[in-house]
Amino acid sequence: MSDSFTVKSTRRHRLHPAGLRAMHWINALAMIALIMSGWKIYNDEVLFGWLHFPEAVTLGVWAQHGLQWHFFAMWILMVNGAFYLAYGLWTGRFRRKLLPIWPREVIATVREALTFKLAHDDITHYNAVQKVLYVGVMLVIVLQVVTGWLLWKPIQFSEAVALLGGFQAVRLFHFIGMAAIVGFLVVHVALALLVPKTIGAMVTGGPIVDDATPEAVPAE
Ligand code: HEM
Repeated sequence: MSDSFTVKSTRRHRLHPAGLRAMHWINALAMIALIMSGWKIYNDEVLFGWLHFPEAVTLGVWAQHGLQWHFFAMWILMVNGAFYLAYGLWTGRFRRKLLPIWPREVIATVREALTFKLAHDDITHYNAVQKVLYVGVMLVIVLQVVTGWLLWKPIQFSEAVALLGGFQAVRLFHFIGMAAIVGFLVVHVALALLVPKTIGAMVTGGPIVDDATPEAVPAE
């Protein structure tokens, strides 16, 4: 018996298929609307006396109007995000492109980045830091939707609100989630601008790649 392997199936497609690109950009717009309208709502009753967001970067004419934008964008993000997660899991994209994540690789990638030795000519593979950022932001967004619902329906979800330390504590968690997403966005957009062809690929689809499924089976 040979110990060589054949690949079970291959599929040729664009690096970022059209559906994925559409979901990514819809999600980006919804998230930006959520952040800016969230700042409008926050300004109406601040958590920290020293922190008010400049009106120029908020969305909505007054707080209630900001809330309407917030709910509108929330439904788009939730439905679109659910499709994105289902797509990533169903097609195996997450398994192929975002997993596994080895701590050793993350440390090595950070070290290469700090010494300006990080190669970024191959846009078909995500490095370990990109994987951490993408998986991390997805988890934060899911938690952000959960804490958002707790704030919207605190009576219906009173047990969960109490478990997290009360309404003001949930507000704080929602704020921290927002800060993490804004932090992600700053790094994500800066990295994309550093390697502009990644933006081109997220707009037009990028190169054709072979989707060699990793579940190779032993040859006869
Ligand atoms: C909060 C909003 C955003 C989130 C949550 C987000 C999330 C993601 C995720 C998860 C991926 C990987 C997609 C995959 O391969 O399955 C990705 C890729 C990408 N995103 Fe975003 N994104 C956001 C906003 C933006 C914005 C505003 C830009 C504008 C420059 C951008 C540019 C890109 C590019 C160029 C890629 C491909 C990266 C690469 O090839 O290295 N994203 N984004």
